Amino acid sequence: MVKRPFIVGNWKMNLTLKEGVEFARQLKNNLGARRDVICGICPPFVFLKDVCLALEGSGALVGAQNVHSDKGGAYTGEVSASMIKEVGCSHVIVGHSERRHLLGETDSFINAKVKAVLATGLKPIFCIGEKLNEREEGRTEYVVKNQFKDGLRGINAQHVREVVIAYEPVWAIGTGKTALPSQANEVHSFIRELLTAEYGKDLAKGMYILYGGSVKPENAKELMAQPEIDGLLVGGASIKFESFWDIVKAASTPCNNN
Ligand code: 13P
Repeated sequence: MVKRPFIVGNWKMNLTLKEGVEFARQLKNNLGARRDVICGICPPFVFLKDVCLALEGSGALVGAQNVHSDKGGAYTGEVSASMIKEVGCSHVIVGHSERRHLLGETDSFINAKVKAVLATGLKPIFCIGEKLNEREEGRTEYVVKNQFKDGLRGINAQHVREVVIAYEPVWAIGTGKTALPSQANEVHSFIRELLTAEYGKDLAKGMYILYGGSVKPENAKELMAQPEIDGLLVGGASIKFESFWDIVKAASTPCNNN
């Protein structure tokens, strides 16, 4: 199976509603009938419905940036997976490093979120990645393996195939320091081995592993040329349509290896 490049923008806490909808309109117009690339946008919660409506029929996917693990109840300020599904989303980012490290999310909470997302029929974009000191201390594989094992604990093969994994080294997020394509590929390859050991080779091969961390139009092509990089999770450069679209174009030119 040839995988289509999978390019997702994570707007984080940026843009106005008007700008978000305008971005979605431009994405729909530019995508036209193209289906050789999977494009997605993860806006803030309050823009989800409008962005979903603006992208209707475009083939682009919309994801939330977070979710609560419970189905409902007294969780002021939280949003459930079924609420996210109801407004038209297909994906949810889970375990982003900004939530792990700035907001104290634990692996077990993240695991409960992954399960809640899957149980609702949505697809998690499950983020893992090491911090700078962990890389410098030679603990990248240890950290990534633990996040992988804890985050996907109890998830069987039937469900795991719905998971999109995103490797985002924390030291490369918003810093302008991209992991070298070869460095990223090495960790992707390690994650693929973890998937193979847990779920078998065929399933592991079919799963998407995205790279995130200072992706720009200038480095997208080289990153996508790595054999184990199936797509990109783009933060800062996804806020302006032009740079996001340049990344989509660079990532989907025929010379990539996917
Ligand atoms: P930047 O592209 O701004 O480094 O952010 C990456 C990211 O965190 C995407 O989820």
